[in-house]
Amino acid sequence: MTDIQTVGVIGAGQMGAGIAQVAAQAGYEVILSDVDLPRAQKGRDGIIRLLAKGVEKGKIAESDADEAIARITAVGEIAPLAGAQLVIEAATEREEVKRAIFTNVGPLLAADAILATNTSSIPITRLAQAAPDAGRFVGVHFFNPVPVMVLVEVIRGLATTPETVAAVEGFAGRIGKTVVQAFDAPGFVVNRILLPMLNEAVFVLGEGVGSVVDIDMGCKLGLNHPMGPLTLLDFVGLDTALEILNVFLSTTGDPKYRPAPLLVKYVEAGWYGRKTGRGFYDYSGAEPVPTR
Ligand code: 3HC
Repeated sequence: MTDIQTVGVIGAGQMGAGIAQVAAQAGYEVILSDVDLPRAQKGRDGIIRLLAKGVEKGKIAESDADEAIARITAVGEIAPLAGAQLVIEAATEREEVKRAIFTNVGPLLAADAILATNTSSIPITRLAQAAPDAGRFVGVHFFNPVPVMVLVEVIRGLATTPETVAAVEGFAGRIGKTVVQAFDAPGFVVNRILLPMLNEAVFVLGEGVGSVVDIDMGCKLGLNHPMGPLTLLDFVGLDTALEILNVFLSTTGDPKYRPAPLLVKYVEAGWYGRKTGRGFYDYSGAEPVPTR
């Protein structure tokens, strides 16, 4: 079985940086890559800030934080990924972007290296078409914020080998995550259930049934969810949520996945949530302010 020592992460955004952080904290060498060095470095800087907070709160020893940071190398090119036994792609949730990455990175990888995707919704068997070996291609779906959320979904494409699944399950266990297995269907288990709920919350808002505050407060207090659906959408990214719903709709043809018109409008306006400073809340001040 592939002996994983070095993990490559492609995409240094919130998911990629989170994956790099937990892998480095578990003792793996990590190559954190993005399209250019400043973006990769920005992801690494974010990890440094989060670990420093952990040290401040007394949750992590300073020496452990320093060692984890030292294990992460930020790179602005793909060549160094050749040294990784496991490469996890955590780039934008767009099929053409992911396929281009696999086509470029695939030829660099060692014969027994595993290529994994953190896709939220795109079928693994379809993405495997662009991978060098469908047997060593697998879905590993993390949840945001990665350092806090314990779940990893492992999704087997039609050709993924049991050895590949065992290797990524071993990796997930070592980084302290619990695995659920999912069949290769759009959205797998968790997003298949979550996204229709988030979408429905935007329909409820768009139809004027409840305000942003009423919808979020209702689900927090009435369902004991840690955050309301509109807060969660701002957190996940409205653009990402829309991409996922569109994958569900186009893959299944089932109209129940039709994105709420207001969600489409917000994305068209560039109001993606926290990452752009505005979504269903405005984040320009000290506290988020509801926008409707
Ligand atoms: N990165 C790392 N750690 C973070 C963090 C982040 N972005 N945000 C919060 N934390 C840590 C805090 O440091 C704190 O740690 P501590 O207990 O060791 O001090 C802990 O999380 C709790 O944080 P807070 O006290 O600040 O706030 P909350 O109690 O409100 O928790 C939350 C924040 C964990 C984000 C919680 O609100 C929550 O669980 N929300 C729901 C998250 C969720 O549903 N995620 C899944 C999204 S769907 C997804 O990712 C799939 C994708 O494909 C779309």
